[in-house]
Amino acid sequence: QSRLYRAGVFGRRPVVPVEPDALEAAARARMSDVAWAYVAGGAGRQRTVQANRDAFDRHRIVPRMLVDVEHRDTSVELFGRRLPAPLLFAPVGVLELAHQDADHAIARAARALDLPMVISSQASVPMEDVAATLGDAPRWFQLYWSKDDDVVDSFVARAEKIGCDALVVTLDTHVLGWRTHDLDLAYLPFARGEGIAQYTSDPAFRRLVEARAATRAPADGPTPRPTPSAVRALHSMARHYPGRTRDNLRSPLPRAAVETFLEVFSRSSLTWSDLARLRERTTLPIVLKGIQHPGDATLALEHGVDGIVVSNHGGRQVDGAIGALDALPAVVEVVGDRIPVLFDSGIRSGADVVTALALGARAVLLGRPWVYGLALAGAEGARAVMQHVWAELDLTMALSGVRSVEEIGADLLAPA
Ligand code: FNR
Repeated sequence: QSRLYRAGVFGRRPVVPVEPDALEAAARARMSDVAWAYVAGGAGRQRTVQANRDAFDRHRIVPRMLVDVEHRDTSVELFGRRLPAPLLFAPVGVLELAHQDADHAIARAARALDLPMVISSQASVPMEDVAATLGDAPRWFQLYWSKDDDVVDSFVARAEKIGCDALVVTLDTHVLGWRTHDLDLAYLPFARGEGIAQYTSDPAFRRLVEARAATRAPADGPTPRPTPSAVRALHSMARHYPGRTRDNLRSPLPRAAVETFLEVFSRSSLTWSDLARLRERTTLPIVLKGIQHPGDATLALEHGVDGIVVSNHGGRQVDGAIGALDALPAVVEVVGDRIPVLFDSGIRSGADVVTALALGARAVLLGRPWVYGLALAGAEGARAVMQHVWAELDLTMALSGVRSVEEIGADLLAPA
C-alpha cells in the first residue's frame, strides 16, 4: 500500500482518478447514457443514494497518537479464510454495460489482489468461466432466489462446484425498485438479454426455455429479422447450443429465454421458513444481504444463518430507505459477535471503510466505485480503485493509531 502511495508522490499518474468524485465524473464522461443510468442510478428521487453518503458525514474519526503502528495488518478472517483486507467486490450484474471484458476483468482484478469476488446471479458471464479466470482467488456466489426450485438448486450446486466460500442470498430485490433513470430511458437490461448468462448457461433453466419454445412454431420461410433482445439472448446462449446458432435465429428460443427469465427471476413469496430448504441443500455458509431492520437481524439469527450484509443495494431499491450506515449499529447491537456482519452501500474511500468497521462491520463490499474503474480502464481500472481504497484504509489506520482491523472500534469515532 505504501508502495502505491510512493508511486503517487513520485509522479506516476494513477490508472484512474484517486479522488472519488473525479473517478465518478471520469466514468460518467466515458459511459453511455444507458450504462450510466443503470450503474449510478438509484430508486425514485435518489434520496437513499444520498442518504448513504450523508450517513458517513455524520461520523468523524478521532485519531490516537504515539501508538507504535510501524507494523500494521489489514487482514481479516471470514468463513474460515484469512483475507488480506476487509474488502470484497460486491455482486454487480450486467457488467457488459461498463466494459466488454465484464466479469472476467473483475475476476482478474480480484485475483491480483486476492480479494473475494462475489459472483452475481445477473452476471454477464457464466460462473464457471469466471471461476477459471479467478484461479485460486476467493469467490462467493450471490443468489437471487428464483421462482423455479430446480433453477435454485442448480445455481447452488454450481456455486459449490466452482469452490465458493459462501452463498449470499440477496433479499432486497425480489422485484426491481422504481429506477427512475432507467424508466426514463426505457431501459431494462434483462429484457435485452443482458445479464442473464448465469441462466442461459444453466441446464435447469434451459429445460424451461426449451419447453416454452416448443409450444411455438418456428418461423417459416426466410429467416426473420430477430429483435435486438433476441439477438442478445441468443449470443449469451450460443455457446451452449453448439452448431445451432444459425438455426436459433429462426427459432423462438432466444425470445423464450428472455421471457422465461422474466418469469422465473425471483420469488416475491419467499419467507423466513424457506431458508430451511436452502440450509438442507448446502453446507456453504449462508449470508443474507439486504438486512436493514434489527428485527430482521434477530430473525436471521433465529434461522441459523452464518452472516449478514447490512445493505440497501446502493439505494437502488426503496427510495427513502434508511441510509445503510445508519442501519448498521442497531443490527450490530442485536447480532453481537455471533455471526459476522458485513456492510455495503455508499463506501467511497478507505476512511469510509474505517468508519464502517468502527461501527461494527467485519468487512465491507464495494459496488459502483470499481465499476467506474472498470469502465475507464478494464481490469486494471477496477484493481486500481480497490487498491486506492485499501491504501487509504492502511494509512488511515496508521494515522489513527490502529494496528489491526480488530482494533478499529467505536471509540475511534465521534459525532460530526
Ligand atoms: C448492484 N447490486 C447487486 N446486488 C446483488 O446482490 N446482485 C446484483 O446482481 C447486483 N447488481 C448490481 C448492479 C449495479 C450496477 C449496482 C450499482 C449494484 C448491489 C451491490 O451488490 C451493492 O449492494 C451496492 O452496489 C453497494 O453500494 P455502492 O458501493 O454501489 O454504493
